[in-house]
Formats: sequence, C-alpha cells, structure tokens
Amino acid sequence: MDIISFIEDVFIDRSSANILELGYGIGQNLVELHRRGFTHLHGIEKDLHAFLASLEMFREFEMEPKVVCGDAQDVCFYDYFDVIMPLNFTYRADVDALALLAKLQERLFPGGYLIVDIINSSLPENKSPKYVHRYSIDDMDRFSKQWGLELVSVWDKYDPRSIYVFRRSK
Ligand SMILES: C[S@@+](CC[C@H](N)C(=O)[O-])C[C@H]1O[C@@H](n2cnc3c(N)ncnc32)[C@H](O)[C@@H]1O
Repeated sequence: MDIISFIEDVFIDRSSANILELGYGIGQNLVELHRRGFTHLHGIEKDLHAFLASLEMFREFEMEPKVVCGDAQDVCFYDYFDVIMPLNFTYRADVDALALLAKLQERLFPGGYLIVDIINSSLPENKSPKYVHRYSIDDMDRFSKQWGLELVSVWDKYDPRSIYVFRRSK
C-alpha cells in the first residue's frame, strides 16, 4: 500500500478531505492527489527553489493548492486537517521531530490521519549518520498514546524508514 492509495481508499468524498503535506518538495504527491480528484490541498516547503519549481508544476496541472514557503516548525496553523503528512524530512538534524509531530497532531480533525516516515532505531549508528532521529515501533506507539492517537498501520518495507499511520478517534 502506498500513501496516496491509502488516502484514496479512506476518503470516498475527495472534494471535502483537507490534506496538508509538509516538506512537499516540488509537489509530486500533491499533483498525484489532484489527479485522483482531491481538491483541498495544502503544502509547506522550506526550500525556495523547490517551492518555485512547485508553482510551475501546479500551473502546468492547472491546480491551485494553498502552499507557503517556510519552515514547517515555525508555521502557525489556523486550519484543521483530515490528513497531515510530514514526509521525508523529519529525520534531519535541524528538525525537532517529536516537537513537530506533537504540534501537527493537534491540528487533526476527529477521525483524521497523521502519516509520517520515521528512521528505524534498528539502523546501525554508523550507517547514515545524517539520520539523527531514529525510533522503534514501541517508541512511536508510546508517543501516539501521549497524543491521544491510535497507531493504525506501520508499513516497514521502506527500510531504513517505516511509514506510520496514526488516527485521531472520532
Ligand atoms: C526528500 S524531500 C521529500 C519531498 C516529498 N515530501 C516526497 O516525499 O516526495 C524533503 C523536502 O522537505 C523539505 N524540508 C526540509 N526541512 C523542512 C522544514 N523544516 N519545513 C518544511 N520543509 C522542509 C526539503 O526542502 C525537501 O524539499
């Protein structure tokens, strides 16, 4: 199961699901969600070059997601979301992964999903030292309980990353 297909399966009504991707790069995931009929798309991307490239791409696909260029850690959120997905950057040294996840989970609607990829703690320390934040399934399960979320799936075929799907109860 990939993330986009999971979202597609879970949200039958694509015109109402409010979806936020953090660290969206040049926007491939947002474009794919748009292609599959999702209309309420949001994104935050820190890198100006990637952000500008994404605007080109969104023009090409005639889509108008609400996007901002900035650090996801500094953004004040006024919206609530059905899906929040910080993807492929939370392991970086300049990101306080747990503080970010704790802040994001507060912006989930009841029944909403937090989808995040985490580097496995089983990765030997001398391998890929740039991956500074590493956690086990037990760690993630513990955090999810602190946040009042349920850990509903773990996809671990992406070793050394696992993808975790958390849900806020309805
Ligand atoms: C490897 S790319 C992943 C792109 C996309 N999410 C994906 O999964 O294909 C990671 C992106 O996260 C962005 N990024 C890194 N730190 C960030 C932060 N603190 N806030 C927002 N974006 C960030 C990087 O600029 C980069 O474009």
